[in-house]
Amino acid sequence: MIIAVDGPAAAGKGTIARALARHFGFHFLDTGALYRMVGLATLRAGGEPITPETAIAAARSLEPSSFTDSDLRTETVGAAASIVAVIPEVRAALLEFQRSFARKPPGAVLDGRDIGTVVCPDAHAKLFITASPEVRARRRQKELGAADYDAVLADIKARDARDSQRATAPLVAAQDAVMLDTSGMDITAAVSAAIAAVEARRVP
Ligand code: CDP
Repeated sequence: MIIAVDGPAAAGKGTIARALARHFGFHFLDTGALYRMVGLATLRAGGEPITPETAIAAARSLEPSSFTDSDLRTETVGAAASIVAVIPEVRAALLEFQRSFARKPPGAVLDGRDIGTVVCPDAHAKLFITASPEVRARRRQKELGAADYDAVLADIKARDARDSQRATAPLVAAQDAVMLDTSGMDITAAVSAAIAAVEARRVP
């Protein structure tokens, strides 16, 4: 069974996807971490501005060890991830790894932007997690321990725009996705709603 969890930055999809994986006993892949790894490797190799050549080379030679790099979660690397994620060759280089991960028995939960639309269009359950930009900025500010709320909000809006407007695999809900707006929910309520939505789709 494959569960696809998509949505914009800081909507809660990572926490929800991890909780779903734990609940069902499935494998979990944070696909954003792959794009963050490419973004980080590109910044380290070529600096800014990011060039497509450097990003493509980084995507084709990803080191699994960078999965645990402490710089991965910074907003600078998040922004770099969304810049390299626009490049079709970067996306293509990461596709097969994600698809083969999704096939791991007994099941897998993948979170990202294009899981239900491109990576696993045949996923058994698809969730699209949203929340208002202001709520997401508050959450991200807390997570990062950042002082400047306005800067975090601006980063989130810039990333939303870039992710939604790109030509290849834009951030968009699959037609058959269950929409979950977590703006007014705490994490327990959001996880319960997500589990209920997946149970409703589960193959007996
Ligand atoms: O954790 P957060 O929601 O802030 O971001 P992330 O999931 O770590 O993803 C970082 C960036 O990678 C996103 O802004 C996207 O541009 C890109 N990404 C993507 O294009 N496709 C995916 N399946 C996952 C992430």
